Amino acid sequence: MAIHVEENVSLRLYNTFGIDVKAKHFAVAATLEEVQEILSLDPYKGKSPLILGGGSNILLRADIVTPVLLNRLKGISLFAEDEDCYYVKASAGENWHQFVMFCIQHEWAGVENLSLIPGNVGASPMQNIGAYGVEVKDVFHSLEAYHIFDGVVKEFNATECAFGYRESVFKNKEKGNWIILSVTFKLRKRPVFHTNYGAIQEELDKMKLDKMSIKAISQAVINIRSSKLPDPKKIGNAGSFFKNPVVPIAVAKTLKESYPDAPVYPIDELTAKVPAGWLIEKAGWKGKNLGSHGVHALQALVLVNYGGATGNEVYALSEAILSDVKLRFGIVLEREVNILP
Ligand code: EPU
Repeated sequence: MAIHVEENVSLRLYNTFGIDVKAKHFAVAATLEEVQEILSLDPYKGKSPLILGGGSNILLRADIVTPVLLNRLKGISLFAEDEDCYYVKASAGENWHQFVMFCIQHEWAGVENLSLIPGNVGASPMQNIGAYGVEVKDVFHSLEAYHIFDGVVKEFNATECAFGYRESVFKNKEKGNWIILSVTFKLRKRPVFHTNYGAIQEELDKMKLDKMSIKAISQAVINIRSSKLPDPKKIGNAGSFFKNPVVPIAVAKTLKESYPDAPVYPIDELTAKVPAGWLIEKAGWKGKNLGSHGVHALQALVLVNYGGATGNEVYALSEAILSDVKLRFGIVLEREVNILP
């Protein structure tokens, strides 16, 4: 089927914040061939398009003049297996949570702690998504990506992806160069349960299980997430808006002296992580309602669009939070969400 580039398309349904801006040019690719065809067409040629997957980690502040390419590449297959693992290849346009559910049905272990994270498979290595003690890098085997300018398909291993906390090479050195086509995950035949994260153990205890399973962990994560995080289908949001800041030990110590209840997680001898949600709550922003938008009442790290907010309004709120947290605690928060344009 010939590719159709649409003009002035509302992106409201393509970003989980539900912000209503328009894309000047918009095209959908379901195969690599369609990706190639789109990139050869006039408004796209020679440019790095805005690749949209689940649209769950972006804040759109104005109409998008960069041509938009919606990644809808589909398919999940068992690629290979050895004594311990299944190698499962999922196309970038697969919905992340559906992929996780598929793995659980097949008893492929490793992604259960990552249940209910919004977005698509293609974005999962891009920002090394993580929750409840597990990150994508822990189950990652490799990915295939298409070079926008050179037209080559390359396989990246974990080292080449340079994973960090919500970071990868695709957000840094290689930003704008690649379209992720598929990701291969290394999933265990015999599960290793990650239940150390406090809230999970508590939830599992409440569930009174006869036997631990990846299904039970997934259900515990789903219960916790749905009790604290707003469902983007009902209230626009992009999950954690900020990263948890990593601060020098001295800063963490000073914070503990002033606030003995501050949750501080040492990383090594020099640094510690402080939950941004705690800082924002302590600064008095939790549950702040500015009419069309605000700070979620149950998790201060999540900014929400109650309906009709503009991207600039949400951005201004994030600016106010940033400067207030800096003033009160001397800690500079960093946004996790991509701000566009
Ligand atoms: N906290 C508060 N007030 C709040 C929120 C959190 O005091 O409003 C405190 C909690 O009491 C707890 C600590 O902060 O002591 C950590 O809270 P939580 O377990 O809810 O996790 P988080 O650090 O706020 C991170 C991820 C989430 C992920 C959870 C669970 C980041 C930026 N966020 O949040 O990821 O689901 O851990 O693993 O690392 C996302 O990235 O979009 C996301 C939702």
